[in-house]
Amino acid sequence: MRRPRILSGMRPTGPLHLGNFMGALDNWVGLQDSYECFFAVVDWHSLTTDYANPGDVRANVTEVATDWLAAGLDPARSTLFIQSLVPQHAELHLLLSMIVPVPWLERVPTFKEQQQNLTDKDLSTYGFLGYPVLQTADIVIYKADAVPVGEDQAPHIELAREIVRRFNHLYGEVFPEPQTLLTESKRIPGTDGRKMSKSYGNAIYLKDDPETVRQKLRPMLTDPARKRRSDPGDPDICPVFDLHRVFSPPATREWSASGCRTAGIGCLDCKAKLAEHMLEKLALIHERRPALAARPDTVWDVLIEGSKRARAVAEATLDEVRAAMKIRYERP
Ligand code: TRP
Ligand code: SF4
Repeated sequence: MRRPRILSGMRPTGPLHLGNFMGALDNWVGLQDSYECFFAVVDWHSLTTDYANPGDVRANVTEVATDWLAAGLDPARSTLFIQSLVPQHAELHLLLSMIVPVPWLERVPTFKEQQQNLTDKDLSTYGFLGYPVLQTADIVIYKADAVPVGEDQAPHIELAREIVRRFNHLYGEVFPEPQTLLTESKRIPGTDGRKMSKSYGNAIYLKDDPETVRQKLRPMLTDPARKRRSDPGDPDICPVFDLHRVFSPPATREWSASGCRTAGIGCLDCKAKLAEHMLEKLALIHERRPALAARPDTVWDVLIEGSKRARAVAEATLDEVRAAMKIRYERP
């Protein structure tokens, strides 16, 4: 029996930060033990929102893949690939688009949300509306059993299941319904206390060396009530403590919380301790990343080889799809 298969994707946004790591990548690394994994750099997805300013996509792909390998995604066990190097996704997207009612897409929560929030972009495009169909194609072309995603992506997987049901009903059982493998979402604040994000300039990156990590933590926002060392504080409203919740063991969290409330410790002590635990979690990445970053050619070899493997699997599925939809032709 084959191991259950999963697929997940990440946009080539550039270097990954702790939010990307704790919210997805670290979870993916662990899933490799129990699943046959396909991980895609979804470059076409970036174009659904950033078509007007694609940026240096090639450099961004390199950064993402370097972080993947540094974090422990293992090309010997998992298939790491680039979406656009597997054009079969586009053909399946087209074929699925024939059967997806437009109101299903207009109802997707991120559709209206992002149109309203990203006002600097014109998202009234066909490609942006159809992006959940492209995501469905990404998943089902590998007949994935499950998809590890955060809460925000769950409606897309639900839609993928609806599309699969409609397809199987119309043309016969081709696709399994993909299950959602919900990644527990821990809030990762950036150094200014807002959600960690590349665009806020408040991120700690996997490529930051240990000294840079310490430097970024030192001026991090704390409970503003602690103006002086002698002022007690409230860890429950302090973003530094939110990071302790993620990175520090219970004993340290207890030390930090009670030291904070009694002014027994200073914020710099608290941050230095956090840095230690954060750096422990990142130790393997710091060990592996420099060598990978020095050899982008070997990182690309992994992606090119993975894309080749992905194409073979994708083409086999697509062949079934063409047959089911009566457009697989043979010479008479
Ligand atoms: N839509 C996802 C995001 O923006 C990325 C993605 C594309 C994805 N295809 C996927 C995630 C397939 C899971 C499965 O984050
Ligand atoms: Fe935040 Fe720690 Fe300072 Fe308390 S002691 S305010 S938890 S940084």
